[in-house]
Amino acid sequence: MNKTLYEKYAIVQKQAANDLLEIIKHLNYETALDIGAGTGFLTKHMNKCVALDIDKSLKTYHKNFLIGNAEELPFKDKSFDIVVSNFALHLCELDLSIKEMIRVSKRYVACSFPVRGSLENWIYDFPDEKRVFELLKSKNIKVFEKKVYHLNFTKLELLKFINKTGKPKKKYSNYFIGKSQIKDILLKVENPSFVVLSFLIEV
Ligand SMILES: C[S@@+](CC[C@H](N)C(=O)[O-])C[C@H]1O[C@@H](n2cnc3c(N)ncnc32)[C@H](O)[C@@H]1O
Repeated sequence: MNKTLYEKYAIVQKQAANDLLEIIKHLNYETALDIGAGTGFLTKHMNKCVALDIDKSLKTYHKNFLIGNAEELPFKDKSFDIVVSNFALHLCELDLSIKEMIRVSKRYVACSFPVRGSLENWIYDFPDEKRVFELLKSKNIKVFEKKVYHLNFTKLELLKFINKTGKPKKKYSNYFIGKSQIKDILLKVENPSFVVLSFLIEV
């Protein structure tokens, strides 16, 4: 991933990261883990934070980096005070990755990811927010703070988002959006937006 390009066009991801940082800013913690850290929108604002990503090319952007899969974290139970993730879990098997975040956390888990949006049916199968809360309920986990909000952007931003912020890994690795499909998306989508779910839980 090219950091300069990504950070210039990852408007939605940056906004969601800033919102999540706002939610966790009052928490006390010593050790942290950022899952699907990318270029570090969260990591760089957190103390003693290990960045984990499936994309090894991101190593160069972090002091403390580990290659790993969100669905099978390479850590013992309760390894970090807080485990966070921004805009990555929709690219992973959601139940598995949330269970893994909970497993390796001593206390807090905070994440945000899109649950609906203009790119549905084209690139992403968005995770179902109800399923997330059923999973937490089944584990008797109390949700401290939850926010569902719309992020709107222009068609040009949508185009740049698709072109410049990187292709999803793994599940969508064979996926390529051709020019005609991008044109189709731009014609059909009236007001591009994402609906983002952010939450903080104590495990
Ligand atoms: C849209 S980027 C978001 C990056 C960063 N969190 C941010 O806020 O900008 C999604 C990231 O998730 C990573 N990713 C995708 N699938 C993953 C998986 N199964 N395990 C760990 N990271 C994964 C990608 O490599 C990419 O860096």
